[in-house]
Amino acid sequence: MSIIDFRACSMLNSIVRIRAIILGGVVNCDHSNFYFRVLKFEMNLDQSVSSIFKSKFAKEPLLVSAPGRINLIGEHTDYNEGFVMPAAVDKQLTFAVASNQTNRFNCFSVNSNTSVSFSTSELQAGGEWHHYLMGVIDGIQKKGLQVGGVDCVFGGDIPGGAGMSSSAALCCGFGFALNQIFKLNLTRLELAKIGQHAEHNFAGVMCGIMDQYASLFGKQDAALLLDCRSLEHEYIPFDFPEIEILLIDTKVKHSLASTAYNDRRAACEEGVRLLQRSRPEIKSLRDIGLSELEFIRHLVHEDIFIKCRFIINEIARTQRAAALLKANDLRGFGKLMFETHRGLSQEYEVSCAESDLLVSIASQFSEDVLGARMMGGGFGGCTINLVKKDAIEKYSQKVREKYVGTFKKEPDFYSTKLMQGVHTLS
Ligand code: GLA
Repeated sequence: MSIIDFRACSMLNSIVRIRAIILGGVVNCDHSNFYFRVLKFEMNLDQSVSSIFKSKFAKEPLLVSAPGRINLIGEHTDYNEGFVMPAAVDKQLTFAVASNQTNRFNCFSVNSNTSVSFSTSELQAGGEWHHYLMGVIDGIQKKGLQVGGVDCVFGGDIPGGAGMSSSAALCCGFGFALNQIFKLNLTRLELAKIGQHAEHNFAGVMCGIMDQYASLFGKQDAALLLDCRSLEHEYIPFDFPEIEILLIDTKVKHSLASTAYNDRRAACEEGVRLLQRSRPEIKSLRDIGLSELEFIRHLVHEDIFIKCRFIINEIARTQRAAALLKANDLRGFGKLMFETHRGLSQEYEVSCAESDLLVSIASQFSEDVLGARMMGGGFGGCTINLVKKDAIEKYSQKVREKYVGTFKKEPDFYSTKLMQGVHTLS
């Protein structure tokens, strides 16, 4: 563990008493190569980011908080126009932003202790944090809107590479701040699409809309049931005082995750393309049932068939899960999470040995762990576990023991609360 004393950093030497303890080493962010350290501040996060901004730019910033997200169920269904059930959580990025009356964007990432300055004529794709910001500016410009330059400082405690969508928080928080400052009148949905534009066109990940949507539309103590076709949602209360939503981080960062993600999407699109030969009205896997999928079985590679079948099942499972949650049947809900995991691991093939072990341990604690599964795009990151609060210690200890015994490394544990989406703090 290394300690940075910001008093020693020339760039920040006017700040007193802010010390950041780097908890993790350098870790990958969800979709990218941009590096992200997890910092724990002695001041609270918002105050720290604000102080750093004021010391660098000597003016009052707009403060914006942008949360990461979890996903209870509905995995890889968003880019198939299905249903997902994410929620924004109490791990966030805080932004301090102010217009600078120039055409330059002067941005500082507290977590990586790096600054970048660019103008709108220098926007380019890439995997570093500033490319995401560039993608957001590009997305705004593509809508025919103009933004001026800003000074910006951001930092936070969303663990990178853990599948909690730090990149969505980055895009949505920055877009939201620009929207406020330049009075662009963009809706939250438009901001979510701009965040997705940045991922697609600047980071090269053909993601769905779930992460950006959850970060922007999250609500305290509620999950979102999002229909990724109509892009409408309903909130489903998730308020079970005796249950903890525990994320267990495998600390696996798969370097090919983005490529494999794009491949899965391509497999689904190929399935749809073949179905359209006999049923041109089909737009996505949302439009068909299992029996129709059987029609194309002989036309496609078995692997594509299996991938499409998983998606069709997962869309239906998410709808069943929503009904169970509304009926407060968390045990029934949890069983579906285990089912989802089996499908993600054996059929969609986006899990890994580490996540599989964590879920199998969870299934042995069936009295105390109501549901568990790998979460997010896959190939590492976190599992999500619904655990009885009074069993957390016993369960975590067992997990740690078995995980360290098998993989010779410690998992991380994060308990999460469901929070409000992107919002201003000042
Ligand atoms: C990533 C993507 C999302 C979604 C999930 C899998 O988080 O960004 O759009 O596809 O994977 O459900």
